[in-house]
Parts: sequence; C-alpha cells; structure tokens
Amino acid sequence: MTVPSTPTAPLPGAPFVSYRDGQLMVEGVLLSDLAHRHGTPLFVYSKAAILAALAAYQRGLAGRQALICYAMKANSSLAILKLLADAGCGFDIVSAGELERALAVGATPSQIVFSGVGKTRQEMRRALEAGVGCFNIESLAELDVLSEVAVSVGALAPISIRVNPNVDARTHPYISTGLKGNKFGIAHEQALAAYRHAARLPGLRVVGIDCHIGSQITEAAPYLEAMERVLDLVTAIEAAGIPIQHIDFGGGLGIDYNGDTPPAADALWRQLLARLDARGFGDRRILLEPGRSLVGNAGVCVTEVLFLKPGEQKNFCIVDAAMNDLPRPALYEAFHRIVPLTESGGANDAVTYDVVGPVCESGDWLGRDRALKVQAGDRLAVLSAGAYCMSMASNYNTRPRAAEVLVDGDSARLVREREAVQDLWRGESV
Ligand code: LLP
Repeated sequence: MTVPSTPTAPLPGAPFVSYRDGQLMVEGVLLSDLAHRHGTPLFVYSKAAILAALAAYQRGLAGRQALICYAMKANSSLAILKLLADAGCGFDIVSAGELERALAVGATPSQIVFSGVGKTRQEMRRALEAGVGCFNIESLAELDVLSEVAVSVGALAPISIRVNPNVDARTHPYISTGLKGNKFGIAHEQALAAYRHAARLPGLRVVGIDCHIGSQITEAAPYLEAMERVLDLVTAIEAAGIPIQHIDFGGGLGIDYNGDTPPAADALWRQLLARLDARGFGDRRILLEPGRSLVGNAGVCVTEVLFLKPGEQKNFCIVDAAMNDLPRPALYEAFHRIVPLTESGGANDAVTYDVVGPVCESGDWLGRDRALKVQAGDRLAVLSAGAYCMSMASNYNTRPRAAEVLVDGDSARLVREREAVQDLWRGESV
C-alpha cells in the first residue's frame, strides 16, 4: 500500500539534508550544482550524517567492550567503508567480494565478521588466510565444512553460531530473518547441540554467539525478546563447558522513511545493555552489525524529470532514475520520499503522479500517488537512499550504474564515476 508523504513532516536526513533559501542541500552543498556537474541519476551522501548515526551507537555502547561491525551490504562503496573504518568500525561481510572491499580500505581483519548462509570453501579459505575475527555459522553442514577447510590450511577458525531465536521482528517478510520459517541461523532448540558439535571439531574455536532478527525494525521489543533467548542459550552453552566470549546482536535498526519512529540507537542500546547487566552478562564483549541505520538517511538520489505523461487513470512523472538504481520500491513496495530540488511552495496546484523510471516493466516505479509541482527538466531527490540502493543497483536494460558523491561540509568529492557503457560488456565475446 502506498502512503502519501506529509509535506510538512521533517525531511528524513535532516539536518544534513535540508532546504536553504528554497534549494535542497546536503550539508553545505547545493544538490543542483552537483547534478549540473556530474549528471543524473546521482547518489549524494553526507559524511556528517553517517558519523552522527555512528556516534549514537558509540554513545549507547560507551564504557563497554564493544565493536560496531558495519554491515557493508547496505552500502559497500569504498569511500563509505573508509570513512567508517577510520571512525573505528569493523565490518560484517557476506562474501569474498565484500572481504576484498574491506581489505582494500585497510580494515583490520580481526575486526571483520563473516556472515551468510552459503559461504563457499574458497571464500572460507580466503577469509582464514586474511585472518577474519569470526565466522558466523548458520548450519551444521557449514560447521563441518569450515572445520575441514581450516584443518586443510593449518588454521583454527574462530566461530560463533547464528541462532534463530524465533522472534517476530514485525517488518516486511522479505527482510525478516529471525523466524522459524526463515532460511537463517540454527534453530534455538538445536543451538546447544550445535555448540557441542562445534566444540568437538578439530578446525574450530568457539568464540561467540550471534543473532540477527531482521531489518527496518522500528521497536525495541523484538530486540529485548531476542536478547532474552540468546542469554538463556549462553547460560546453557557455558554450563556445557563452552565459554562464550562475545555476543553479537546483529543489526536491523530501522530508519525514518515516511514518519517512521524507530528508537534512537543510543537509547535502544542503553535499554538493552541495562537488561544485559541485570542478567549478569554485562562483562561480555558486544558486537553489533548495523547497516541501514548508519547510512540510510545520509544519502539521496538526484534524478531529472524527462517527461510528464498525463493519463486517464494515472499521471506519470517519468524520471531518469529507475528500478535498477533504486530497487527497493519494486522489490518491497518500499516508500521513499521524493522532493523537488527547488522548493515549490504551496501544494495547491500540485498534480498527483506516479514517479516512474524508463525501465520496461510496470514494476519500475519509485513512488506512487505523489503530489508534485514539476515540469520536464526539473530535478527531484529520492530521500533515504543511502542504504540498499547503490549496493543493490543493477545494469538491467544495459543502464550504467549512477555516480556517487560524498559531501563533507562545503566540499563535495566524486567517489564513484558513472559507469561507462563499455564497462558493461567487459569480458563478453561474440
Ligand atoms: N547482519 C546480518 C546477518 C544481516 O543479514 C543484515 C541485513 C544486517 C546485519 C544489517 O541489517 P540492517 O542493520 O541494515 O537492517 N535489502 C533490504 C534489506 C536486507 C537486509 C539483509 N540483511 C532492504 O532494502 O530493505
């Protein structure tokens, strides 16, 4: 269901994304200048917004032995990884490709955790060779194979088991991961047996426990519920003589797309850690794997209106960004606010449009039923586009992927060139 945005609601990303004198800015830089210089579609990120989002986690974890492992699937552009590595983050990776990205920006291998249900032997070997801090294991079969691979290279693989606490994260079914019907993790009831098994395998060293229940979670309750179950398990596992050094609570904290009100990271973690202390686990090392909440509202995607196409049932505003650049609406019917770069004043003569891209599919829409005052040639910004947009972009319809700019105060740096069409058939032959 599409929910119309409230024009008066504060912009997601404020104060780093805001209008000044009627012009939309990211920090101190005019988006229209960037679009003019670099073309559209164009992703623009605010460094200050990312650091502010990280600071909220750091405040919440202050005084703890804790490591924030940025889930780079949310946005794995090197400039963003470098920014977060320099700010003290480790990384949560899910492929050898992500591992190479982390290493390319100088990440500390021992601060990398390797998640994912389907690691290949080759990926395991590469991660062992690099010296990642922990493999988050999702099945009994994976325990056996990792042990085998580790023995074959003369290594001891540090592991945690991702337990599936069977908690409803109350989010979109495609991004809910902590329920029994999901492919993720080892069922809560089987976790103790899995730990016993792991402790007997020659190539493994148990270091922690892990859970991640879903994404775009906007309440504290599912986290608390998952924490209780994980702590119950820690008690049982340690009673079986297997020490658990760290507890990884995953990521999942939501952001404001359209008036959503997730708890602030600092408040949430103060509340959760109080519970951890009350249960006597306050001394454990804590790992978190936030993705969206660090970068989501720090980014926008600037796009140009190509044509307006009035219709009997619908009016279409056809823009130059599409589902290949911004796949979330097509995939999850996700809502992103879409606003003009130049504030258009009162909503009186606004027209209701479906904002759509040029891709040849009806699923190629970015926003439905949006009241806009626009003309061809105007530019719009799709907000909350810092997470799961560029990292999920594709070349469908042989569309080169967009360029990316990182803003820092009054300066802006192109951190990814727009792909050239020739890049798209590299390695092909006729
Ligand atoms: N840790 C694990 C093991 C994960 O699977 C994920 C996300 C995260 C951490 C980070 O979650 P976050 O803090 O970003 O919510 N493409 C979807 C989201 C997929 C999330 C997949 N896993 C979307 O656009 O909404």
